[in-house]
This record gives sequence, structure tokens and C-alpha cells, in this order.
Amino acid sequence: MFSPADRTAALQPTAVNSVLAEVRALLAEGRDVVSLMRGEPDLATPPHIVEAAVRSLQQGRTAYPDNRGEPRLREAVADKLERRNGVRYDPGSEILITDGATFGIYAALMTVVNPGDGVLLPDPVYDAYQSPIRLAGGVVQPVVCELRDGRFRLTVDALETACTGESRVLLINSPWNPTGTVLTREELSAVCEFAVRRNLTLISDEIYETITYGGRAHVSPASLAPEVRERTVTVNSLSKTYAMTGWRVGYCAAPASLIRTMFLVLQQSSRGPATFVQDAGTAALSGPQDCVAEMRETYTQRRQTVLDALIGLPGTRVLPPEGGFFAMLDVRATGMPSNELRRRLLREHGVVVLHGGAYGPAGEGTLRVSFATGGAVLDRGLERLRAGLSAR
Ligand SMILES: Cc1ncc(COP(=O)(O)O)c(C=O)c1O
Repeated sequence: MFSPADRTAALQPTAVNSVLAEVRALLAEGRDVVSLMRGEPDLATPPHIVEAAVRSLQQGRTAYPDNRGEPRLREAVADKLERRNGVRYDPGSEILITDGATFGIYAALMTVVNPGDGVLLPDPVYDAYQSPIRLAGGVVQPVVCELRDGRFRLTVDALETACTGESRVLLINSPWNPTGTVLTREELSAVCEFAVRRNLTLISDEIYETITYGGRAHVSPASLAPEVRERTVTVNSLSKTYAMTGWRVGYCAAPASLIRTMFLVLQQSSRGPATFVQDAGTAALSGPQDCVAEMRETYTQRRQTVLDALIGLPGTRVLPPEGGFFAMLDVRATGMPSNELRRRLLREHGVVVLHGGAYGPAGEGTLRVSFATGGAVLDRGLERLRAGLSAR
């Protein structure tokens, strides 16, 4: 009789996958359901990127890639990091191409976390960080982030409260899924000073960096000071910036000693994205960037649609996101657990959102609404959400 290895007990399905199972059951009953749940852009990958992949395939670029990442892509990443983030990395030794940010986060955690090490993690946060932390033997140390004046905040006080002698790593994500907060330069400087003072490795997931609103700009922690750069693994991906979720291509930048070990982790598992996908990635990062600005404009309009549709509902306050493509609804005034409200919206009104409690206890009392999909789906979903939240 097969029984899974003990270490797999660390692994939990993501909230999206658990809710999807509920949604599939309803669909199987013939129910009509509209989803405002996933962080999956409905925009097409820009044509010049698709064409680069096709050209690459036609040129027979189908053999194993350089496992560290194709040299041209690593150079394109290094140029991008210098141009956009203001920090220089050596493409030969300080960059690793990964299968999306997911693999970058996994490789970074496997490299820096020893059994029993504490990993400071904002609460609420993207729920797929927890399983790889535990798989690496780490202990999640939640940093309670308060919702104050319409915005979730990561403060040094909260970090100090969560930090113990076991803490070794701080994992942050700005623009921050699910809260929509973009840490300001001042906030980030304070967080980084804390990481330096407590001698922590910083893992910075910057996957939403180009999707910011209202004059907010993403700041890359590694660019703040040499003493931050030397302890930071920057994780990024082409998934959201170029609408390339299914291509599975991302990258990490870190000092050579870290990248060397992360490369060993990658060699024993994925060996990196397909060669022609990496060629497409090179075209994305080195080609024209108007597509990125156009996507940001599209999300800006959708964000406004969401804010307009959800304003003034009883017991509900919409938090205008500063970045990413999720809006949080503060539904604490309803007095209802977020998962119960989510379920009711799904079963009685046919609209899928995620409950804030899925992202940690500090997310309780909120709902996450995605506007990664727009058009008729967004309009219908918002109509149902309005109806559901008004009907309680
Ligand atoms: C914060 C965050 N990090 C990482 C990922 C996964 O990214 P990738 O598609 O590059 O693996 C997601 C996807 O939703 C995300 O929201």
C-alpha cells in the first residue's frame, strides 16, 4: 500500500486550487459561474514574443538549454535589471533563469533555509509561499500586517515582534499580492535596514513590478544599498509583465555564492525553461516595451471599473490597489467570516472571489477580487458581486 513520504505533509493545495474544486463541482451541476478569482491575465502574449518563439522552433532550438539559462537571456535580464531597477548583476555568475517565479522562490528557499530556521512572512500574503518554506524545513513566522487607513502595511514594529533568534529569512512581495500595497521607498528602506540589522537573507518577489497605479513606483530592494544587495535574492518572472503565465519563464538575481547553489537545486529538478521559450523571453526583455505600458493602461482602466462598481455597498469598503491586479474588499463590518461570505457569493450569486483568510489570519475580514480578466466577464462578475454584497 502506497503512503506518501513524510516530507510531503508540508504541502498544501493553494487557495485557488481548493476553490477551483468547489467551482468545478458547481459547473458539473450545470450552474453558471463567473470568476474574478485568478491572477491570470486574459491578455494575449504580445505578437513579437510569440514570433520569436516560432522562429526559434523553426531554427531547431529544441535541444537542452544552458541549464543556468541561455546566455542571451541572462544578458537581457542583466540589462533589464540595470535599466529598470538600477542594480548591476553579472550575467555569468549572478543570474539564474527559472521556470517562472515559482521555481525561483523554491530554489531560493531550498538554498537558504535550514531545518528549524524561521522565515518571516507578511500576513496576509500570496499563499503559495508556505508549502516550499515548510518543505525546506523552515518555520513560517507570520508578520502581522495591519489594515490601516485603507492600506495594509508592513512595519518594522511588526517585524520586530515576529522576529526570533531562529529567524534567518524575510520573504516580501511588492507590489503585494493580495493586498495591492506597493511599499514606498521609505517603507522598503526601513524593512531592509531591519533585515541587515537582524542578519536576514531577503527574498524579494517582484513579479508585479510593472503593474502600478497613481504615480506609485516599484523599488527593488537590492538597489537600495550594497549591504542589501549582498543578502538579497531578487525573484521575478515574465508571467504577469508580458502576459506569459503559461510559458513558465522567470529569473533570479543574487550574489554568485547563492546563485551557484540555486543552480545546483535547479539542475537536480527542472533544468530550466525550454530553449525556445528562453529565446522568446529574450525578445520580451530586449524588445519594445510599449506592450508593457499598454497592459498597465488596460489594468488601470479595469481597476477604475472595479472601484466604481463596488463603491457604496453596505458593510463593504473597497481598498484602491496601488499595484497588481487585485482589489481587496474590507468586509469586516459584515461580521461574517470571509470564507463564509465567499461561499455564499459563489453558491447564491455565482461569482468567484477569494477570501482574505486564505492569505493568513490578518487577511480575515477581506475578499480579493481579481481584474486580471476584463470585458464582459469583469462586468458580469462585478454585477453579481454588487448584488451579493447588497443582498446580505
Ligand atoms: C506573488 C506571486 N509570486 C509568484 C507567482 C507565480 O508566478 P510564476 O507564474 O512566475 O511562477 C504568483 C502568481 O500568481 C504571484 O502572485
